[in-house]
Amino acid sequence: MRVAIITGASQGIGRRTAEVLAGKGYALALNDIQSTQATRDAVGAIGAPAIEVPGDVSREADVHRIAATVQQHYGRADVLVNNAGISFIRPAEETGVEEWCRVLEVNLTGPFLLCRAFGKLMLAQGEGAIVNVASVAGLAGIGDRAAYNASKHGLIGLTRTLASEWGGRGVRTNAVCPGWVKTEMDQADQAGGSYSDADIENRVPMARFASPTDVAEAIAFLADPKLSGFVNGMELRVDGGWLADGSWDRLRLGHRPK
Ligand SMILES: NC(=O)c1ccc[n+]([C@@H]2O[C@H](COP(=O)([O-])OP(=O)(O)OC[C@H]3O[C@@H](n4cnc5c(N)ncnc54)[C@H](O)[C@@H]3O)[C@@H](O)[C@H]2O)c1
Repeated sequence: MRVAIITGASQGIGRRTAEVLAGKGYALALNDIQSTQATRDAVGAIGAPAIEVPGDVSREADVHRIAATVQQHYGRADVLVNNAGISFIRPAEETGVEEWCRVLEVNLTGPFLLCRAFGKLMLAQGEGAIVNVASVAGLAGIGDRAAYNASKHGLIGLTRTLASEWGGRGVRTNAVCPGWVKTEMDQADQAGGSYSDADIENRVPMARFASPTDVAEAIAFLADPKLSGFVNGMELRVDGGWLADGSWDRLRLGHRPK
């Protein structure tokens, strides 16, 4: 049975990814700083084995423990999904150093630590797939998100580097770049008043948010060597066309059904 580790698996994209991979026959190791009980119940109902590997992805000792537990329990790791992440919306000139560092620690240092720990295991196996959950904010500068954008740009840089270092030894590394997704993160960000559903729906050519399923299926594609066996070092946008679209609002909205 193929084994997948998913970080940030309690809710949102991570939880849905666990359900989608469970449906495709993976055994799972589910990480979060919150309980993953609801996710474990959901994947258990699908019939997938799952263990909880709690911990903070930004702490080296926690990541060592997570990797040791997976190795002890399953003896292998086929897929690592670096999904845990935090949002931070603040004008650049008001962003404190501690806030900047925390965003970088969770969104970039955490994935590095997990890639390093599970990459060693995958390199020893001679196969494996890593999928980093970046963002459109890893490919473009979206205002009021200096730390978040920098962390996601960095994650894409890490993805490309590991693709070049490890691709020749059977380990593929790719990223997904979602646009705006309806999750608890979006709820919290909108509660802060920085944008509305209409802002996003008007800006996206496909006129809607991504669903967690849209992102989870893209992750499953990059995880599966039968579907994406020669795809390595790529950023797969799951953004409904956001980054492709250079239109101004009136032009884009003029093409919508009246
Ligand atoms: N929601 C969006 O619009 C959106 C868009 C693009 C990219 N993303 C990215 O997708 C990923 C998942 O986002 P989401 O919307 O599901 O977020 P979410 O806030 O709903 O879920 C994130 C999960 O990560 C966990 N987590 C946070 N810090 C952690 C840590 N230090 N160690 C372990 N777990 C931790 C949280 O407890 C939570 O369960 C994030 O990396 C996010 O940056 C989200």
